[in-house]
Amino acid sequence: MPSYTVRTSTAQYDAIVERNILSRLAEYLPARISQIFVVTTRDVWNYHAKAMEDALDGRKHHVLFFPGGEDKKRMSEVEALAEQMMAAGADRASLVIGFGGGIVTDVAGFLAAIFLRGIPVLQIPTTLLGQVDAAVGGKTGVNLVSGKNLIGSFHQPLAVLIDPEVLRTLPEREYRAGLYEVLKCGVIRSKTLFDQMAFQSADILGQHPGIVESIICESVRIKCEVVTADEKEGDLRRILNFGHTIGHALEAETKYTRFLHGEAVAFGMNAATHLAHLNGTLPLADCNSILSCIELFGPIPKLEGISADMLLGRLASDKKTLHGKVHFVLPTRIGEVTIVTGIDTGLIRQATAAALAAS
Ligand code: GLY
Repeated sequence: MPSYTVRTSTAQYDAIVERNILSRLAEYLPARISQIFVVTTRDVWNYHAKAMEDALDGRKHHVLFFPGGEDKKRMSEVEALAEQMMAAGADRASLVIGFGGGIVTDVAGFLAAIFLRGIPVLQIPTTLLGQVDAAVGGKTGVNLVSGKNLIGSFHQPLAVLIDPEVLRTLPEREYRAGLYEVLKCGVIRSKTLFDQMAFQSADILGQHPGIVESIICESVRIKCEVVTADEKEGDLRRILNFGHTIGHALEAETKYTRFLHGEAVAFGMNAATHLAHLNGTLPLADCNSILSCIELFGPIPKLEGISADMLLGRLASDKKTLHGKVHFVLPTRIGEVTIVTGIDTGLIRQATAAALAAS
C-alpha cells in the first residue's frame, strides 16, 4: 500500500495509507519502550478499542481520554494529561500514541513534545482531516483565547498510520469538513486532485473506497513533499495555510464552538479566492471553478452575526502575521498559489464580505 516519506533535518518517517493498518502497529513501535499512552476520545475508543487493544497485544499501556472539541484544545488539558502520565509512572522511554482526529493528534503531539522535554509520538488519525493534514508534518499545539494554535511546537512523529476504513464510522459533517483540506491540497499544488474533487464529488461524498483512497494518497503525498522541503514553515510550507488566515479568524471569533476546522477553512478559502481575483492574481474562470468546488462539499453552518470587520480585527493576532503585516496564500491558477503581503485592508474587507454574502 502507498507510503510517503517525510525527511527533515532531525527526522525521517513514513505516512502509510493502508486498510486495517492498525493490525500491523507492532511493526512501528520502537524496540525499547517502557509503556504506551494512548491519547484518544471516548467516541473513538467506543468504535476502535478492540482493534487497538488487539494491536497492542499485551504491551503495557494506559488509555488517556481527551474530551474532544476545538474549545478543549487548551494548555490546561495538556497539563491534566501530563499529570495522569506521571501518576502512571511515565518516563523518558514512554511512547504517546495520538489516536483520533486532528485535535487529538495536535494535543497528543504537543504532550509528547513537552513531556519530560520530549518523548516519541506515533500518530494514528481517525478523521479525514487528521489523515490528510493534521497528523502529518509534526505541527502540534493548543489554542489560546486570543487565537488558534498560538502555543505549540514542531515534533515529528515516528510514523503516521492512515486507515481509510475507519472513516466509515465518521459523522458525515466531519467527513465533509476533511474534504475541504483535500480540496485545499488540490488548489495549492495539484490540478489532478482538484479535478477529481470537482468531477467525482458524488463518489467522494458517497465514500466509494477507490476514490477515497486516491484523494487521501494524493493529499498525503503533497503534505509530505511540502514538509520535507520546509519543515518549519519558513517558506514553501506556508502554502498549506491557504484559507487558514480568515479561517482561523472565524474559529477564534466564534470561540471554536460553531465551526469545525475544515468548515472554517472552507470559508477562508472562499474569501481568499475572492481576494485573489480582486487583487488581480487569479483569472475569473479559475476563481469561479474554485468557488463552485467549495460549494459542492457544503453547506457549512450559517455565519449569522459575523461581520467582515470582526474577522479583520482578528488578523493581527494570527501567527502568520509578521511585522504587523498579514500574509495571504492566493491562488494564481488551479494547482498554484503565491504568497502576498501587505494587501490593502479595503480589498480584504471586500473579499470577506463577498464570502459572507455567499454563505
Ligand atoms: N496544517 C498546515 C501545516 O501543517 O503546515
